[in-house]
Amino acid sequence: MNQGKLIGTISRLVMPPKGILAIDESLDTCNKRFLKLGVPQTEEKRREYRELLITVPEIENYISGMILFDETIRQFTNDGKSFISILKEKGIEVGIKVDQGLGDLPSHDGEKITKGLEGIADRLQEYKNMGATFAKWRAVYTISENTPSEDCMKENALLFAKYALICQELDIVPIVEPEILIDGNHSIEKCYEVTARNLDIVFAELQKLDIFIPGIILKTSMVISGKEAEKKSFPDDVAKMTIKCFKEHVPENIGGIVFLSGGQGDLEATLNLDAMHKMGPLPWPLTFSYGRAIQNGALNTWAKDPQNIKMAQILLLAAAKNNSDASVGQYKK
Ligand code: 13P
Repeated sequence: MNQGKLIGTISRLVMPPKGILAIDESLDTCNKRFLKLGVPQTEEKRREYRELLITVPEIENYISGMILFDETIRQFTNDGKSFISILKEKGIEVGIKVDQGLGDLPSHDGEKITKGLEGIADRLQEYKNMGATFAKWRAVYTISENTPSEDCMKENALLFAKYALICQELDIVPIVEPEILIDGNHSIEKCYEVTARNLDIVFAELQKLDIFIPGIILKTSMVISGKEAEKKSFPDDVAKMTIKCFKEHVPENIGGIVFLSGGQGDLEATLNLDAMHKMGPLPWPLTFSYGRAIQNGALNTWAKDPQNIKMAQILLLAAAKNNSDASVGQYKK
C-alpha cells in the first residue's frame, strides 16, 4: 500500500470547494428512473444521458470526482472519446461502484447484505488499469422497531473491511458507504442513535483489519428524521446532530466525509450541508457526493426533450455550483 498515493487522491477529491458527483446508478436503478419518465431503458439511452453529464462545460470547477458504474466506465461519447479520457482531461478523478447490489440477509426479514466481494480484486485491478483512482461500496440499513439488527450492521461492516483492505492494497481509495435509509417515520433522535451505533461497528471492523483510516472516505447519510416523520428536521438540527455524531463516532484522522442525498429534496440537501459548514471549523474535510440532488433537474429536462442538452447541462452545472457553495458554507438562495 502506498499511503501517500491514497492521501493524494483523497486530498484532490475533498479539496474545497468541490465534491463528488455520483452517476453510478445500477442498470436496475437507472432503468427504473428512465421508466418513470418515459425514457427507453436501453444501453444507448443510458450512454446518451451519461455523456450529457460527463461533458458539462466547466463542471470541473465544482466536481472533483465522478463515480461510474461498470457499464459507464467502458463507454464512449458520440464522437468516439472514452468517458474516462474526458474526465481525465478535466482533471476529474474516476471512481467506480464495485459492490454488486443488495441481497437478503438470511434469517433477518427485510434486512439487506451487500453483494460483490467475489472476484473483487481482479475487477479492481482492471478498473485501476483503466484509470480509476477510487471505488465505492454501499450498504443499506432500514430503521424500524427491530431494525437494523446488530447482525446486519456487523455483517455489512465485515464486508466493508474486506473491501477496503483490497482497495488499499491496490492504492485505490475505498469509499465506505453505510446508508441509513430515510424511508420511515422515525425521529431524528432515533436516526442519531442508529447512525452512532453503526459507525462504531463499522470502524471497529475496519480497525481489526488495520485499514489505513486517513486513506478512506466515509460516505454517509445525514442524521435526519424519516421521510414520513411527523416532525420534519430543519437544517440547523440536521447539522448539529450530524456533526455531533461524527465528532463522537468517526475517527478524527479519517481522510474525508462525504454525503449521499438519499431522497432528500435538492434544496434540502444543499441547505443541510451549508448549515454544517456555517457551524465550522470542522475537524475533517466534509463535502457532498450526491446523485439525485444534483442530477434531478438535468434528468427531468432531458427526459422531456432529449434534444435540449444545453438546458439539462445548465441545470446540472447550477446544482453542482449550489452544492459547491454549500460545501464551504457560502450558499445563497
Ligand atoms: P443519492 O445522492 O441519490 O442518494 O446517490 C448517492 C449515492 O451514491 C447512493 O449510493
